[in-house]
Amino acid sequence: MNRNDYDAVITKAIEIQKQWRQVPAPKRGELIRVFGNYLRQDIEKIGSAIMKDAKKIHAEAIGEVQEAVDMCDFAVGLSRQLYGLTIQSERPEHKLQEVYNPLGVVGVITAFNFPCAVWAWNHCIAMVCGNSVVWKGSPKSTEVTGRCKWAWDKAVDECMPDTDYKNLLQIVDGDKTEAEWMADDTRINLLSATGSTAMGKALAPRVSARMGKGLYELGGNNGMIVSKHANIDLAVRGIVFGAVGTAGQRCTTLRRLIVHESVYDVLLEKLKSAYSSLPVGDNFKPETLVGPLINQESADRMLSALEQAKAKGYTVHGGEVVEGCTIRPAIVEATEQCDLVKTETFAPILYVMKYQDLEEAIDIHNSVPQGLSSCIFTDNVQEAETFTSAVGSDCGIVNINIGPSGAEIGGAFGGEKDTGGGRESGSDAWKQYMRRSTVTINYGKSLPLAQGIKFGD
Ligand code: UN1
Repeated sequence: MNRNDYDAVITKAIEIQKQWRQVPAPKRGELIRVFGNYLRQDIEKIGSAIMKDAKKIHAEAIGEVQEAVDMCDFAVGLSRQLYGLTIQSERPEHKLQEVYNPLGVVGVITAFNFPCAVWAWNHCIAMVCGNSVVWKGSPKSTEVTGRCKWAWDKAVDECMPDTDYKNLLQIVDGDKTEAEWMADDTRINLLSATGSTAMGKALAPRVSARMGKGLYELGGNNGMIVSKHANIDLAVRGIVFGAVGTAGQRCTTLRRLIVHESVYDVLLEKLKSAYSSLPVGDNFKPETLVGPLINQESADRMLSALEQAKAKGYTVHGGEVVEGCTIRPAIVEATEQCDLVKTETFAPILYVMKYQDLEEAIDIHNSVPQGLSSCIFTDNVQEAETFTSAVGSDCGIVNINIGPSGAEIGGAFGGEKDTGGGRESGSDAWKQYMRRSTVTINYGKSLPLAQGIKFGD
């Protein structure tokens, strides 16, 4: 996209937001409700675009659009709940209030692996909060971006004809340069960026340099602890979906398995057997569970990580090339959590390690730069509660007897450390998309000062 076209997009985004911010929030929710209907209606069409662009299997592609539908429902309800606190004042005849107002223009940068849902997390919330959205989707998933924009425009045509509200969502076509323009742009009031840690680390300093607001959801290196008290069969199901779903290309993919030494052998055998029967191949075939990686570069990165693992003397199960970018998921028996294990290779590689006691397991678990999603399989309440406590997992998402991926939209989604600290989708993530004013109202006839200060009286 050339710079003039980009500037025109931002100008339009500012203009339209000035109208939108005055529309009552529940009315804004009405547009999201209609938009949700278009997503429902087009679920197969958008799903096919996801299959084509992101190479997901059908069930996961549809699941992703469903996540966007769920976001619409959530945002419609939220549009009647954008409330602040009323706080007791220390002064007589005074009242403190929190008032939330729209922020302005929200820039959204999304990755190829969730080309619809992650945008919807941001878009639906940003809309009911009274903002306009400028969306740079991944250059790898332009068909999905186009289909989502089409659904938005249809919703505006139906719900709010004779308005320019189609411009509430505009697309920035581009890659790194355009992302940098957005990061540097003081006209963008919030930049929400989802993708690799490297991308976040390149953009965040630019946003900070202009004192801008950023919301980052970056890399994960998600771990699971399997205790001696775990239901092993349940754990196997959680591990397989977590590690090989979306061909290991979710930010929430399970990458590290920390297993109690007493159940290590039995778990590994079950896993090897589950992996050996996985249908790997063309993502358009209904029987396939693991499709291709997004491109050759990604496939090469996976193969290189497996070579490095072998060079370290680790035993590697799987990892054979089926054809092109389609590779069988791999299990790597790592004897220690070396730098390779601490690195997020965006591919279906599962490193397996042993532990003896829970404290050690949690230490291994937390000793990586990333902090997105985490889980423990245990039927022991002390272990489970410890994992969620102050001495437990240091991640933004902490699961008990569930794998690390496939979060529901109702909770806030995001993580700590190199994951960037942002929270998207549910709970009170909406607050980041609004400007909070603390309002003090004096309804009396005198002017007492806070902290009891006497000033000339
Ligand atoms: C991502 O990979 O960027 O929790 C998002 C999950 C999905 C979202 C993943 N709901 O796995």
